[in-house]
Amino acid sequence: MYKESTNVVVKHLINRLRDVHTSSNEFRLTIEEISRIMVSEALCNFPTVTQTVKTWQGSLDVQMLEVQKLVLVPILRAGEPMLTGILRTLPYAKSGFLAMKRDEETAESKLFYENIPNIEDKTVFLLDPMIATGGSLIDGIDYLKGKGAKRIISLNLVAAPEGIKNVQEAHPDVDIFVAQVDERLDENNYIRPGLGDAGDRAFNTND
Ligand code: PRP
Ligand code: URA
Repeated sequence: MYKESTNVVVKHLINRLRDVHTSSNEFRLTIEEISRIMVSEALCNFPTVTQTVKTWQGSLDVQMLEVQKLVLVPILRAGEPMLTGILRTLPYAKSGFLAMKRDEETAESKLFYENIPNIEDKTVFLLDPMIATGGSLIDGIDYLKGKGAKRIISLNLVAAPEGIKNVQEAHPDVDIFVAQVDERLDENNYIRPGLGDAGDRAFNTND
């Protein structure tokens, strides 16, 4: 399944990202903020467990998210601010890393580095702001499935319809939560209107 956010705050923040005057610092902080809202929406039906906490009035049984069943995996570079934001909400979640770079001529993604903890029997949140052709996401999902992930949920900020279709065809079992589905891919496989190169915008390397 894929679900596009209808949250007006999410849409507002996405449009802050579109503005070329938005600095790298604000760009990263805004990605962090959107990611925190999106993970809350994506977790609304996630299992909880009873835990006993010591409160100011004594012991209390409460329902807590099973955070130990979650692993956060950003696709670097541009996924890094998503991880930073979500870790402020879920500081006890484990994290893994995939560093991928898309060849701008062929749009083929290449994996340069991975460091994934044990994800067997875990739900993995795969974090990448952009779905253009969907190639990077498909390869990332392939990799995580090879490592035994029980369930994969993809959190994305801006997507082209073509990319979502490609990911759904390759991995129909993966749930995709996307903040904004834009119009189309252009002839250079960039999302229109999109954000430009999200990694360059986030890390001030776009000149
Ligand atoms: C961007 C983006 C995705 C990918 C999307 O990363 O963050 O990972 O491109 O394109 P696709 O759907 O066609 O694969 P990029 O490879 O430019 O690396 P970066 O994050 O270091 O900028
Ligand atoms: N990667 C980006 O960062 N932006 C696009 O529009 C396409 C791929």
